[in-house]
Amino acid sequence: MENKKPIKRHLALQPLSRQHHFGLLFSWKLRKGFSNNVATERLQEYAKWFFETEIKPHFKAEEEVVFPVLDDENELIVRALKEHRRIERLFKDTENPEKSLNQLEKELNAHIRFEERVLFNEIQKVATAEQLERIAEIHSEKETQTEYHDPFWENQ
Ligand SMILES: [Fe+2]
Ligand SMILES: [Fe+2]
Repeated sequence: MENKKPIKRHLALQPLSRQHHFGLLFSWKLRKGFSNNVATERLQEYAKWFFETEIKPHFKAEEEVVFPVLDDENELIVRALKEHRRIERLFKDTENPEKSLNQLEKELNAHIRFEERVLFNEIQKVATAEQLERIAEIHSEKETQTEYHDPFWENQ
């Protein structure tokens, strides 16, 4: 096995990294829902809720405060923004929700891994003290995850 040093996340970025953890959990729950044959409508409702309470504010914070640390033509930023738009589309698709939610679970995971392994490292490397302070301020309000009323992922 590869011997990788754990990434040391700058304090200012830790709340966003925690939200990434919630994102990975969301994907795990969707996967669990699919393997338990939970009705697509229930998964859709959960995805809609997760989008509004977690993803929307998370993307907004990244796009307004984190991404501008790098140039908007930077290939990492171009990629991140493209993935945000794509993920939003998958969250909102009502034509083929089963397929979209399946895809979403994979693409959200891949996006989070990209930010954690590549993009955030670059951000914390080049950000000024002022920029890091601004990042720390913006999302210190939202640290805990709200409970969802229908825990379909639990064994029934
Ligand atoms: Fe993102
Ligand atoms: Fe993110």
